[in-house]
Amino acid sequence: MKHVRSISEIGTEGVVRILRTARHMEAVNSRPVPKVPALVGRTVVSLFFEDSTRTRISFETAARRLSADTVNFSVSTSSLNKGESLRDTIETVSAMGAAVFVVRHRTSGVPWQISEWTDASIVNAGDGWHQHPTQALLDCYTVMARRGLDPSPECLAGLRIAIVGDSRHSRVARSCLEAFSGLGAEVVLVGPATLLPPDTTSWTVSTSTSLDDVLPEVDVVYMLRMQRERMNEALVPDLAEYSRRFGLDETRWSRTRPDTLLMHPGPMNRGVEMMFDPSSTTQSAIIDQVTHGISVRMAVLFELLASGDEVPS
Ligand code: NCD
Repeated sequence: MKHVRSISEIGTEGVVRILRTARHMEAVNSRPVPKVPALVGRTVVSLFFEDSTRTRISFETAARRLSADTVNFSVSTSSLNKGESLRDTIETVSAMGAAVFVVRHRTSGVPWQISEWTDASIVNAGDGWHQHPTQALLDCYTVMARRGLDPSPECLAGLRIAIVGDSRHSRVARSCLEAFSGLGAEVVLVGPATLLPPDTTSWTVSTSTSLDDVLPEVDVVYMLRMQRERMNEALVPDLAEYSRRFGLDETRWSRTRPDTLLMHPGPMNRGVEMMFDPSSTTQSAIIDQVTHGISVRMAVLFELLASGDEVPS
């Protein structure tokens, strides 16, 4: 594996491989000192051109637990502000010995462009509306862990997963849809017609405009954040109306089965898509998603830089 830029690039085989390695990383993370020397001397550079809390910290923690050196390239204080091109920046940082660039950018395709300019591996930490593969990997891991499943090509078969909200603008929805259905789950996108992808004919997915109809029938309710910063037109009449139809409140949640999982990639818009406190239900896996994110990102870095070495356990 050279890069992790999209789910389709690594395929189901790559997904399963990372999920298996992540299990070993979870064992490392449960030790009193959660650190192994697997990536000593390798440098992981985070290059975030868009805001992030959990993804950036998660990657940095993952790299440090594998004993890699980490460089947090701060875009706002770099020479990019003096007019240096992205290409010159990448070539300069590569020449200092970067082994992996973890890239987040508001424009789709930037991770592919960057890989033309460096021999380092690229991990896509979110490019525009397009892909966010490590989010989807940690989400698959979370569903698997909560259901007591082992990673395998069909490990989510028989599960129905609703992805609810603004799937049109969401890179998380696109990546999760591919990863969940690649592992055999049946995915339904739920939202107002204006926030569903315009054409889903090439995807193995169904759509619904009624959350109330879907809730009692699914094993996982995956809520998306309203992507207000990516909307350049009024796609919903107003947020209050959106929340009334698609916001999750206690009454709606009580219509799910007792074993249905509640997930959200964060950051949550409380009062918009999330109308109750998810920590009030043990069905919420939202905190598990954050915790598993570290094991999964350790697995990604390990597969890129040390695959073939003995997996730490
Ligand atoms: C997501 C992102 O940035 O794509 N957040 C994340 O990485 N956990 C989801 C979002 O911003 O809606």
